[in-house]
Amino acid sequence: MSHDLFEAARDAMAKAHAPYSKFPVGVALRADDGNVYLGANIENISFPQGWCAEPTAIGAMIMGGGKKIVELAVLAEKLALCSPCGGCRQKIAEFASSDTRIYLCDDLGVQKTVTMAELLPFAFETDVIG
Ligand code: THU
Repeated sequence: MSHDLFEAARDAMAKAHAPYSKFPVGVALRADDGNVYLGANIENISFPQGWCAEPTAIGAMIMGGGKKIVELAVLAEKLALCSPCGGCRQKIAEFASSDTRIYLCDDLGVQKTVTMAELLPFAFETDVIG
């Protein structure tokens, strides 16, 4: 199951628009609807306007009709086991469960699996909002 997500993340990474950092990242996630959604980082000449691979994939999931992330793979060309940045952990958590699996990859495949709870311990969550 995780291997097809690794290959999908590699395809996604090939579509990165990262001319400034030259640090392409690809994400593939399997959603509760059974579909795999892809994302790559998309940078901008006005640097703060760019965004990570994870929100691209989450946006694709939402617009495709998926509601929950079941498992998610991250791959970066220049960094083995690239882990989602802090902001992306919060973005993933919005659509994940504590046991959602996150696969950290190198160029050969999945090398480490962590849960959402391990990736974002002591997360911000409350019933007060909404
Ligand atoms: N990046 C991601 O796409 N996901 C992460 O979780 C880490 C960082 C991107 C953002 C930027 O385009 C490049 O990697 C360098 O920070």
